[in-house]
Amino acid sequence: MDHPEFLLSRRQLLSGVAATAAISSMGTSAQSAKSAFTLGNSGNQSADKLASDEGFWRDVASNYNSTQGIINLEHGYWGKMAKPVLEAYDLANKKVNTQNSYYARKNFPEDMRQATHKVAQALGVQDGEIVLTRNATEAIHNLIRQYQGLKPGDAVLLADSDYPSFKSTMHWLQQDQGVASIELLTPSFADQTQLLQCYLDAFEQHPNIKLLLLTHVSNQHGLVFPVKAIVTEANKRGIDVICDCAQSWGLIDYKIPELAVNWAGFNLHKWIGSPVGVGALYMKKATLEKIAPYPGESDSDNSRAYTRVHTATANFAAFMTVPAALDFHHAIGGDNKEARLKYLRNLWFSEAQNLPHIEVLGGKDKMSSTGMSSFRMAGKTSIEEAKKLQQTLENDFGIFTVVRKGLHSGACIRITPQVFTAADDIQKLVDSLKKLA
Ligand SMILES: Cc1ncc(COP(=O)(O)O)c(C=O)c1O
Repeated sequence: MDHPEFLLSRRQLLSGVAATAAISSMGTSAQSAKSAFTLGNSGNQSADKLASDEGFWRDVASNYNSTQGIINLEHGYWGKMAKPVLEAYDLANKKVNTQNSYYARKNFPEDMRQATHKVAQALGVQDGEIVLTRNATEAIHNLIRQYQGLKPGDAVLLADSDYPSFKSTMHWLQQDQGVASIELLTPSFADQTQLLQCYLDAFEQHPNIKLLLLTHVSNQHGLVFPVKAIVTEANKRGIDVICDCAQSWGLIDYKIPELAVNWAGFNLHKWIGSPVGVGALYMKKATLEKIAPYPGESDSDNSRAYTRVHTATANFAAFMTVPAALDFHHAIGGDNKEARLKYLRNLWFSEAQNLPHIEVLGGKDKMSSTGMSSFRMAGKTSIEEAKKLQQTLENDFGIFTVVRKGLHSGACIRITPQVFTAADDIQKLVDSLKKLA
């Protein structure tokens, strides 16, 4: 079967950036190994310069099916697949539903191994340190529930800005293990120094902390936490860290060693653009003893990360499409994506900061910021007020957003553009914000 050509058109073709598309890298599952897409850029511009090149980003956008009838600024939920990735996914689905168990039993393990290898490579770690999961939640819940380092009287630390379900699981340790769960109140508009200080103060006040849930990028307002600095300080005090990277990978550009974490959970269906249903667990080699194998795990080789999850039958086609998603992600460039998303954020954030009726939430400086940020009407912190604001934006201005309600400082509206969002759409948000006065 022929596979369509994937073409990211551009005024000038980018030398050196040509990605092998989609299922071409899928070994046995590939229907065709010939296709390639080519990504243009604008003459070796730096990521920061390219960020404002609307022509380049229009070309990128042409590789996605566009949403009709609304300006969608709620892309923190999951990431739409680019057309080449969707095509690879369709082919994979077709293959699975044609070859059925004959494929799944004989060839899928090798395709899964290749997908895992690509993820490990992209994250800068070894293959055996990565296990593909159905989502970040599967990875992080297992890490928390299977953590063995607690005894009654110990404490665990989480933050108001963590992901709500993980906060609940950390609090559940209180009844399950007889430990204290402490919820840190983090500033909603902050820089790296303030965020580190916040954790240092908590470590000082609670010397019995043994386990920390640390979020790299908060789903509430896109704030980037200084993971490496916090982990370094935690480790000095004998505190283990589980890092939630569900929202960060692809929204910002990094590799795991830069974070210095031992255990982390990721999503590929947010900013890497895989089909929904792909996450990853990272466990650094030789750090597995404190995380028990999945209950009842029969493999006697306890030293391997895959014994910490039991995913069972899942969406084969989603995993088969991982190489295509990563190829497309790399073709745009992780650094280019990060810079473009931050640029779009700054277009509205810098204006909103000067509007007295608006309070902005998120990173104060470049290091603490992502493309995702939040706002609320000044002084209006209730969930009801935030819901009303979300409705006004949707019904009166045609802008779709989402309410976030986990922060101690109150509820807010989260704004999350994607790589296919045009600067003009952000301008419409700015115009709307001004009219909210
Ligand atoms: C910071 C953070 N952690 C965890 C998750 C959970 O991701 P998933 O539902 O894909 O497991 C999300 C999803 O929005 C998130 O933003």
